Amino acid sequence: MPGRVLITRPIPGAGPALIARVADEVVAVEADVPMPLDELRERVRGFDAVLCMLHDPVDATVLRAAEGCRVFANMAVGYNNIDVAGATKLGILVTNTPGVLTEATADLTWALILAVTRRVAEGDRIMRAGRFPGWGPNYLLGGDVTGRTLGLIGPGRIAAAVAARAVGFRMPLVYHGRRDSPDLDALGARRVELDALLAEADFVSLHVPLSPETTHLIDARRLALMKPTAYLINTSRGPVVDEVALVEALQGRRIAGAGLDVYEGEPAMAPGLGASENAVLLPHLGSATVETRDRMATMAAENVVAVLRGRRPPNLVNPEAWRESEGPSTVP
Ligand code: DGY
Repeated sequence: MPGRVLITRPIPGAGPALIARVADEVVAVEADVPMPLDELRERVRGFDAVLCMLHDPVDATVLRAAEGCRVFANMAVGYNNIDVAGATKLGILVTNTPGVLTEATADLTWALILAVTRRVAEGDRIMRAGRFPGWGPNYLLGGDVTGRTLGLIGPGRIAAAVAARAVGFRMPLVYHGRRDSPDLDALGARRVELDALLAEADFVSLHVPLSPETTHLIDARRLALMKPTAYLINTSRGPVVDEVALVEALQGRRIAGAGLDVYEGEPAMAPGLGASENAVLLPHLGSATVETRDRMATMAAENVVAVLRGRRPPNLVNPEAWRESEGPSTVP
């Protein structure tokens, strides 16, 4: 059963060695840059498994080119870059890396909350430019965090980890999601409608997966519902926010600020965002710790190894593409 494996970008840790112990051949792409779609389409031909990245556009054309491939193992918890329905139809398994990046992403969410509220990045820019005029009673004032209301959109693991950290800041918690979250409920969070959350929260933090339903979930109308003193934090996926509408809200001071780790046209930003002093902008660092990336790479590799051995991978996102008796199989 073992076969040939493509790894689309250099990955850290034990992952490649795990795969090499089982596979007949591993081709690990050496270029440490995202692969363009047409190159990806060419490179996937003839492989039994592909370990891919969140920026690899695994669309219908790539899936067709990967004929015979058994699994695309995404090294990310999000898998909006993969046409999962198309993969399922072709009997190709799709896996992700849930859980292992929860704490790192929650930490970074908090880095953004604190940085944007206390104007950390602005202050750093001033110091480096030698523009610090000296302490002043009205100088570079931010807002309080302690005691202010945190609103979480998408009640998954990461939202719960962000909320757990908020307890130390004595923050009232509200959340919005399709289902109750026992973890958030246990922290005293109240589940509310989306528009009510936007009107109430001092911090609106996004933790939804990207899908057609969540694309531009935060649009001009919903930004207008936020308090002028509130902050928007996004560590989920860029297209959840209408970035052009956000720039208008930031520049018109209709909200106090935004802390962003992800962008609608990543790695590009909407015009004007970079000039918005009330935004803290990070280059998609949510899971970027040595330990977390190591765990993500290992988990993605374990998914590949399971499939090569004919076993159901532990983090399968399209179970319909798996039949216990036969392994991956085309869904009629
Ligand atoms: C994920 O895994 O989806 C994260 O965005 C990676 O940083």
